[in-house]
Amino acid sequence: MATRLCALAELSPGVPLRVELDSTEVAVVRVGEEIFAIEDVCSHADIPLSEGDVEDCTIECALHGSRFDLRTGKPTGPPATRPVPVFETSVVDGDVFAELDS
Ligand code: FES
Repeated sequence: MATRLCALAELSPGVPLRVELDSTEVAVVRVGEEIFAIEDVCSHADIPLSEGDVEDCTIECALHGSRFDLRTGKPTGPPATRPVPVFETSVVDGDVFAELDS
């Protein structure tokens, strides 16, 4: 089931928005016309990825500098080695939704 994350208008390009839901925290990122949703916890330690910079469709962990591909959740470099869950997004009537259960 799709879960509403935020309004599209709340997203500035390349600026992560942290959304706290009952089940999880999600970092929502707009890159161009695409919207990405990634769990807002680094896989290396319990750090919000939404505090990091976005560049070339990756988000950087602000603590140790691993970058995660927003499309796949996979780290592009150490020290993180495990992927972070990513969620499929959609935009309906100006609101951003994600499939958190898939
Ligand atoms: S806590 Fe994210 S790379 Fe170490």
